[in-house]
Amino acid sequence: MEKTKVGIVGLGTVGSGVAKLLLDHGDRTARHAGRTLWVEQVVVQDVKKPRDCTLPKGVVSDDLRRIMDDPEIKAVAHLVGGLEPARTIMLKLLESGKDVATANKALLAEHGPELFDRARELGRSIAFEASVAGGIPIIANISQCLSANQVESLTGILNGTCNYILTQMDEQGADYAEALAEAQKLGFAEADPTMDVDGSDTAQKLAILAHLAFGSRVKWSDIPRRGIDTLEVEDITYARELGYRIKLLAVAQLVGDALEMHVSPTLVKSGTPLAEVRGAFNAVSVVGDAVGPLFFHGLGAGQMPTASAVVADLIDIVVGRTAITFRTLELWSKREARVAPLDFSDSTGRYYLRFHVEDRPGVMAEITGVLGRLGISIASVIQHESKRGAAGLVPLVIITHQTTEGATRKAMAELERLACVRPGAVRMGIRG
Ligand code: NDP
Ligand code: HSE
Repeated sequence: MEKTKVGIVGLGTVGSGVAKLLLDHGDRTARHAGRTLWVEQVVVQDVKKPRDCTLPKGVVSDDLRRIMDDPEIKAVAHLVGGLEPARTIMLKLLESGKDVATANKALLAEHGPELFDRARELGRSIAFEASVAGGIPIIANISQCLSANQVESLTGILNGTCNYILTQMDEQGADYAEALAEAQKLGFAEADPTMDVDGSDTAQKLAILAHLAFGSRVKWSDIPRRGIDTLEVEDITYARELGYRIKLLAVAQLVGDALEMHVSPTLVKSGTPLAEVRGAFNAVSVVGDAVGPLFFHGLGAGQMPTASAVVADLIDIVVGRTAITFRTLELWSKREARVAPLDFSDSTGRYYLRFHVEDRPGVMAEITGVLGRLGISIASVIQHESKRGAAGLVPLVIITHQTTEGATRKAMAELERLACVRPGAVRMGIRG
């Protein structure tokens, strides 16, 4: 059988999974590619590090030139995280004639235009199925399978680490720091997990999906975003009492001609598909004007699910499919944006507001006074009888009727200035 040489740069969580699939299941990949994908070179930073996979002698080095200078290596899995040296490595690979499959969403979200332009100039291509939602084939679905549709909305749980933490806190009563440490140990988190928990990783993935689905050109860092790092266990408990689960949702939806986009922890009605996504699973709910609603669900982080997407990309590269889609999609090209972003302040919905307030007469009137003045109507209130702790504080949860992001943001700023309200109030949207 014909043999096509491939390279791997990065042999951490994902790179090791890719090596295992190519070496241990070569028959499978050969069947789908019509040729053997032969691991010729693997490049790492530290050759002395113990690895989670066994490679033939002489394959692993710390010298990128061994891939760049081998004209028979056609496709390379680029599995280095962060921006630099990941960007330089990607450019060197393209410039030495390689097509590249990457899982690095941070790199694409930050430097997509530069990298895709360079690839086009050089007649090369970049595949990136693994960059969003791990093992779920969402990139191929949105960019190819749904191309007869105008996508109307896209709602996702796109960070496995956050979903794992929220599930552990909700179901096991785990502490936030404990659950994050476990997610790191299981290989779900980024090298620096700040980007996972503060919503940045999700915003980077949303920017990529919105680019494909809506032709948006919004930079990930301009997407309004909040993470799960300020949540308390009590919010998870109140959400459950109200019949909801908290999920970090990425939303992109057309409102008239504009695109509403944000990343926010949200109360999602228990029993609905998004609310039941657990652990490191991700999900993407898509509505297309022709196809109607679709729901994609699968592991969004972790070694083998991510490697599954990378290896499929390598196969697509060597059989020539990537070159065709890459050329026709014109991703991150100089084309104008097809949609303008909606001012997030105008986005509408119901909200959960949680405060710690002084337990004394008149407090409720002060709070409802502010909300009333800003036109925010209250749907329900939870204030459990206080055990009268030393601080004399009581938690207060307010659920609003339909209002706007802007009005609730303004209300929170005013309410936190009241003497009866302690800092650290929480505000989340409600779905369902
Ligand atoms: P790891 O930190 O586990 O691995 C990164 C690898 O990059 C290491 O093997 C490291 O080498 C190598 N590396 C770093 N610098 C260089 C360099 N200059 N030259 C060659 N190799 C280098 O990361 P992951 O495998 O978890 O993630 C890789 C990418 O995949 C990231 O972009 C991440 O966002 C993305 N991703 C990760 C998922 C996951 O579940 N982990 C899921 C989806 C995407 P050494 O080992 O010698 O230090
Ligand atoms: N750190 C990311 C996550 C990896 O937890 O979802 C997958 O992109």
